[in-house]
Amino acid sequence: MKTVKIHILISCLIILSFLSCNQKNEQEVEAKSISQPEIKLDLLDLQKSNKLGKDTVITIINDPVYHKAKKYKAVNTAILIKNEIDLTKLDPKNTKIVFECIDGYKPEMPLELFLNANPYLAFQDLDAPKGNKWEPIVKDGNEMNAAPFYIVYTSVSEKDTRYKWPYNLVKIYLEPLNKSTLELYPLKNRKLEAGYNLFKNQCLTCHSINAIGGTMGPELNYPKSVTEYWKEKELVDYIVNPASFRYKVTMPTLGITKQQSQEIVDYLKYMSENKKKI
Ligand code: HEC
Repeated sequence: MKTVKIHILISCLIILSFLSCNQKNEQEVEAKSISQPEIKLDLLDLQKSNKLGKDTVITIINDPVYHKAKKYKAVNTAILIKNEIDLTKLDPKNTKIVFECIDGYKPEMPLELFLNANPYLAFQDLDAPKGNKWEPIVKDGNEMNAAPFYIVYTSVSEKDTRYKWPYNLVKIYLEPLNKSTLELYPLKNRKLEAGYNLFKNQCLTCHSINAIGGTMGPELNYPKSVTEYWKEKELVDYIVNPASFRYKVTMPTLGITKQQSQEIVDYLKYMSENKKKI
């Protein structure tokens, strides 16, 4: 009887040590991907030092920003990135490219998808009126232009939302694909995953949580979470329709349902208990 007990005890110990080993491995993987250095290209600096590469004239049949055919002077962005960054040192399958625009808008996409799409960095609009470098973009009654840089593709459909076409672009970053997943995933309550996914796909380009994300809209968690100074019901309604709260609001109505908005708010409440400055 006694030996049986000892056997059970030993088996338990073995299983336990296995479990803790696995946990350690997971932590090591996490630590490794977080510590991978961030790689940044300052496009204006590269232009000043004549390092953008050979320019060429390209035609975009249906430009999604100008809504018509356009001609630009541009450089091949894939070649530019390969000249500036040693891609053999990183794993393109696990890397994303993040675009930083003047107003803090920060869209991103998988690096491999980007490099294979024949992307161009347009730096001059050949349809611009005389004396101007860019034709104005008219959006919501305001006139803007795409300067200094605009990412375009000659062989990607403007309807394919996996591809980003950022204008007013100033910097490009390469980061681990799972950086935001590791830092912002609701590990302690996986039921909040739906809210997290909605936030990651619809909000992170403009808003940060714990300083991860875009800066076009305000940080939503640190030092004070929006869930601490907004009434919950109002916050849910705001996310569905910001213009019903603020005149000339700059946050767009994104087509989020009330239920989805509640899921996002539940996730934001969870993050308010997981604040940290990164
Ligand atoms: C295109 C950029 C953009 C996107 C996408 C976006 N926002 Fe915003 N958001 C803004 C801006 C800009 C403001 C500041 C609004 C203002 O007062 O004009 C804002 C304001 C807010 C506020 C109010 C903050 C405060 O302190 O009062 C909340 C909450 C918010 N956004 C949540 C969200 C959520 C949740 C999503 C995703 C479903 C989202 N936003 C998507 C740009 C964006």
